This record gives sequence, C-alpha cells and structure tokens, in this order.
Amino acid sequence: MKLPYAESYKIKMVESIKRSKSFEREAWIKDAKYNLFNLKSEQVFIDLLTDSGTGAMSDRQWSEMMLGDESYAGASSYYKMKEAIKDILGFDHFLPTHQGRAAENVLFSVLVKEGDIIPGNAHFDTTKGHIEFRKARALDCTIDEAFDTTLDYPFKGNVDLKKLKKVLKENPKEKIPFIILTLTCNSAGGQPVSMKNISAASALAKKYDIPVLFDSARFAENAYFIKIREEGYQDKSIREIVREMFSHADIMTMSSKKDAIVNMGGFIGLRNEELFTKASVYNILFEGYITYGGMSGRDMNALAQGLYEGTEFNYLESRIGQVAYLGQLLMEYGIPVQFPFGGHAIFVDAKRFLPQVPREQYIAQTLAIQLYIEGGIRGVEIGALLADRDPITRENRYPKLEMLRLAIPRRTYTNNHMAYVAAAIKNVYDRRDKISEGLRIVHEAPIMRHFTVELEKI
Ligand code: F0G
Repeated sequence: MKLPYAESYKIKMVESIKRSKSFEREAWIKDAKYNLFNLKSEQVFIDLLTDSGTGAMSDRQWSEMMLGDESYAGASSYYKMKEAIKDILGFDHFLPTHQGRAAENVLFSVLVKEGDIIPGNAHFDTTKGHIEFRKARALDCTIDEAFDTTLDYPFKGNVDLKKLKKVLKENPKEKIPFIILTLTCNSAGGQPVSMKNISAASALAKKYDIPVLFDSARFAENAYFIKIREEGYQDKSIREIVREMFSHADIMTMSSKKDAIVNMGGFIGLRNEELFTKASVYNILFEGYITYGGMSGRDMNALAQGLYEGTEFNYLESRIGQVAYLGQLLMEYGIPVQFPFGGHAIFVDAKRFLPQVPREQYIAQTLAIQLYIEGGIRGVEIGALLADRDPITRENRYPKLEMLRLAIPRRTYTNNHMAYVAAAIKNVYDRRDKISEGLRIVHEAPIMRHFTVELEKI
C-alpha cells in the first residue's frame, strides 16, 4: 500500500478556540454590519479569512526570534535575510518592508506614474489599489479558462499571451513600467502559473524591453504545482524549480506572511542597482532604514528561516494536501467549487451556489454571512464588494466570478477542522433555496471598500 502524505511536523503548543451558538452569531454579525472583518476573533470558531500572517511558526523560527539583532543599521538579521533571499530566490539586492503592500508602495513610488498601464494575471487588490491610487491602470490578462470553475485545467493562473501581446503592441513602452505575474494567482483561486507560461510571458516582455515583476506571496506553492503537474519537473526539487521560476523575473515583491510562514514581513527583491538605490529612498521614507525597513531583527530572522521551511517538499505536500482534502469533501457534497483546487484556499462558486440572489445584492458576501451563522466559520468575499467601483466612472464593477474564499492558514488547523467546515457548508447548501435575499451597502470607503464596508440585510 502506498503510504499517504502526513504532516512533516508535530504539535508542541496549542491555542484554544471558542465555539458559540448560532443565535449569538446572528446578533454579532448584525452588530458587525454584516462585514466579517468587523468581528472579534473570539466570535469566530474557525478563521479562514486569510492565510496571510495566520500560520504557525516552527520551533526553529521561534529560536531564531531569540537570536534577532535589533541594531538600527547593519544588523546580522538583515544579512541573514539577504543570504536566504540570494540562496533561494537568487536576488542580489533586497529591501525589507513590513508587509507585501508596503513593498508595492515603495517600488511603485519609483516606477508607476499617472496614465501608466500594468498588464498582468489578475492583480491582487492591494496591488491594483497601489496602481489605481497613482492614476495608472491594471489590465487583467488572465486566461479565460480561469473563469470557468468547472473546467479542469492545470494552470488557471496563466497569462493569456495573446492578450498580453496586444497590450504591449498597442501601447508605447514608456507607458508600461513592468508586467506583473502573480504566483500563485490569488484572485483566480490560488491557481498556479506554469513554467512554460512564466517563460513565454517574460520572453514577450523582454522582446518589448519591459521588466517583469513577480508578486511572489505564494511562490513556493506555485513551484509545488509545477513539480506535480508540469511535464519535465517531477524529478526537480522545489528549490530548483523556484530558482528557475525567478530566473525569469527582474524584480519581485513578496508578502512573506504567506509562503515564508511569518506573522508579519515582506520585501522587494531587485537585480538592478540603480533601481535599488532609487527605491531605497522611499524605503527610508515610508518603512525604515534600508537594513530593517519596517521589520524588527527577530522578524527578519524568522522570515529567513521560514523561506527554507516553506520550500520543503514534504511541508508543501501536506499543506496543499490539506486544502485539497477540504475541496474533495465539498465536491463529494455536490458543492460548486473552483477546480482544480488552489494552493492556499478553496473558492466556493457563489453564483452557482445561490443563483437566485442578484449580483447587486452581493452573492458571495451573502453566502459568507450564512456560513458564519451556520458554523462560526469566517471566510472572505472575493466578488463585487472586493472588485469595488471603477475609479473613473464610479460604477460598481461586477467580476466574472463571485467567490467565497476559504483560506487555510499554514500548519494551524487539523483535518477535523476541515471536516467541520465542509459539514457546515453542506448544511447551508441543503437550505440554499430559502436564501433568496442578499445585502445592500449603507456605507463604503472611496477605495478598497471591502475592508470597512457596512451592509444591511434586504
Ligand atoms: N499580493 C498577493 C498575491 C496577496 O495575496 C497579498 C495579500 C498581497 C500581495 C499583499 O500583501 O497583505 O502582506 O500587504 N493577501 C492577503 C490575502 C491579504 O488575504 O489574500 P500584504
């Protein structure tokens, strides 16, 4: 008998979580204005809001915390992080930042100006936010296959090379500061980009003399999918695949709260010294001096250690295996989910789950609220609320997909938790015909509204 995967670690410390009753949750979510971000964490039993900064650090990472060097300049922790980045990702220069969006803020302050166009595969919302904040445009060139949740396609994060070529051809080079590849593609459902696609997209960008930026939050999960799904990579190690992936990038940003398994941290990786020098100025202005930029020494140490742990095959196999375990249970219950399953999350297709709720009533948010009331589970809407308004016309943007994302924190929950989540979703599914009305907005912010939006039941 082939032995199944099992976690490549055991548990040394645990944290209690609280169960509650559904009538309590009904009152709490009403008080929270039907915005799951407004809940207190103690009002949540299983928290699948995000996999960002919510993972469990290892004993080695905690040991590294003790060794942190908190010197303002030239700390050994800075050099430890520099060495790990060079070793695993191959970048000579880097700037630490407090998280991923801070890396975007620093870098885009140098590179993005009004009127620019930045093509890519479904930019993450903070990335898009930082582009639109600078009055530039993020152009989504993801392949159409990504938007059909029933289609079995191994690399739904891929860039459509024809769409990309059209953008590069039709716009002057000066207007395109870089192209972005998001690995894995969060907004498309944690879907990977193939090596073939990475290589072709970057060759195309090079032809037009445009730099390639990797948004690398979940790069290791992307490498795992390449290893198991793409021909020619089965015998390569995750680290070899990672190095090959990054050989196609000129610049990278990383929210290290994901695949480096830390609670806070991020960085920019660069090859060009001139760009590094320019970005350093903004790093000092927004984040902190270049050898700590928004991070304490102990956090840089834990991050360096996390980059090694996050790129171990056995860890990735059990991590992605756990996500697939939840996905499999949901499929067995007949629940519509993005397939194949993503690396960090299961995306429930809310339009197929609740076809009777109109899109103007926020389908995926309606489902998210129902799941919270059912089981105390907090997911997040990836739909019209997140898509926000068009910055120019101010009209609501309705994305092709309305998803409820169930993001699984790393090394945090057990498969029993996954079984509980699946059962709760099944209960909502069994009573879906009774959910006919959604939500309306009573208050929203001018940009990135989904964090603070206030809603009421219709
Ligand atoms: N890029 C991607 C692909 C992301 O998923 C995120 C964050 C960021 C950039 C920004 O990084 O949060 O460290 O500032 N994603 C989180 C999520 C918030 O829940 O998916 P950050």
